Amino acid sequence: MIVDSGARAHALSLVYEKSSIVKQVIVIPGNDFIVYQRQKDIIVDKQCSFFQPQTILDLVNKYKPDLIDVAQDDALALGTVDLLQKHGFSVFGPTKAAARIEWDKVWSKEFMQRHVIPTSPFTVFGDKEDARKYVTSLYFINKQNKVVYVKASGLCAGKGALRAENWHEAMFAIEKMNVFGDAGKMLVIENGLQGEEFSSYVISDGHGYSMLPSSQDHKALFNFDQGPQTGGMGAISPVMIASSFSKEIEEIMAKTISDMEKEGVPFRGILYLGGMVVEGKVMVIEFNARWGDPECHVILPSLKIDYGELVQSSLHGKVNQLNRKYDTKVRICVVGAERRYPESPVRGKQIYGLEQVMQCEGVTLLGAGIAMQDNKFYTNGGRLFSIVGEGNTLLEARQKAYAAIACIHIEGNNLHYRTDIGWRDMEKYI
Ligand code: GLY
Repeated sequence: MIVDSGARAHALSLVYEKSSIVKQVIVIPGNDFIVYQRQKDIIVDKQCSFFQPQTILDLVNKYKPDLIDVAQDDALALGTVDLLQKHGFSVFGPTKAAARIEWDKVWSKEFMQRHVIPTSPFTVFGDKEDARKYVTSLYFINKQNKVVYVKASGLCAGKGALRAENWHEAMFAIEKMNVFGDAGKMLVIENGLQGEEFSSYVISDGHGYSMLPSSQDHKALFNFDQGPQTGGMGAISPVMIASSFSKEIEEIMAKTISDMEKEGVPFRGILYLGGMVVEGKVMVIEFNARWGDPECHVILPSLKIDYGELVQSSLHGKVNQLNRKYDTKVRICVVGAERRYPESPVRGKQIYGLEQVMQCEGVTLLGAGIAMQDNKFYTNGGRLFSIVGEGNTLLEARQKAYAAIACIHIEGNNLHYRTDIGWRDMEKYI
């Protein structure tokens, strides 16, 4: 059973479906498109909420799955793993205490500081007036002309980090923290770093770990990395910058797993390092306690190891013994979003062309905000679907993904996607 809903849930359901030890996959709450044209028995049951772990337990009691993968950040933050484990189920994912590395940015930054894990300088505020005085001193007394990030400490669906280039933008960002409710009560203001971002992953059993491939997300809404932050508009894997710094990244991952164990909060699950290479040095921007979405869409298909067995190795404390086996293909994911995402996506607009995409060779279509009715598809969220193209080169993978997305049209011309996914590695490749 997978506890997740968007395209990540679909991507995970594909690797579990392929696993030789899995007979049936249940996705809760999932989404309509996940069950479309599948090989094995796939069930989606929407009768639960990430924000009410008891409703997840109710579905677990209904289906009695042999293994539960809690893959969604709010569910992790609210202690779903702890609750299900308490009821005797076999659960993959970090406990609430370990997932804190994601859901409490203040704790996470202070953890990094305590353990000398390289991260950007930061200041924590519980009082917005203190935060306003701080940015005023930065920009007017210290005459700073640098970028800062104002970050909500809690979870905000990937939208809680606001970039500010000057005093006005920083003040606006502090005000904007109010829209995140409790998540925005504590905030972190950190110096903006200049460099290239990537995300890297390990699977851990709390003590040992095994590195997984890296990726590069494209978080801004528009081409040229312009516009508001989103959950992610596309990704590639592998990514050259992470390959060049793989030794340094692994050292940080190993240290983090070990430091969490030393602090009495062993991390069992997928640990996500959001990093940046700054002047030849790897810095940690953030840790997350689960797969990235859309990053996992391009990483999971590259694993040559059976995913069910990979997860079992974490549950049985044996990830150190894994052989790291990945294919040599390049993958690119382009996210199709409703045109008004992330502000106010419109629901109920018909989506055309999904069946054609499913016929494209070397292309995988993952559903997210899609509702199905009478075999027709409708918009039902912000990020609607992800298209993954694979090839022997980035160019080939890119051509496949973009040829496929060109088949799709949304009633009222309401489809938005970026046309520059993978641009950094394209430049290096050319
Ligand atoms: N793609 C960014 C995230 O999953 O947080």
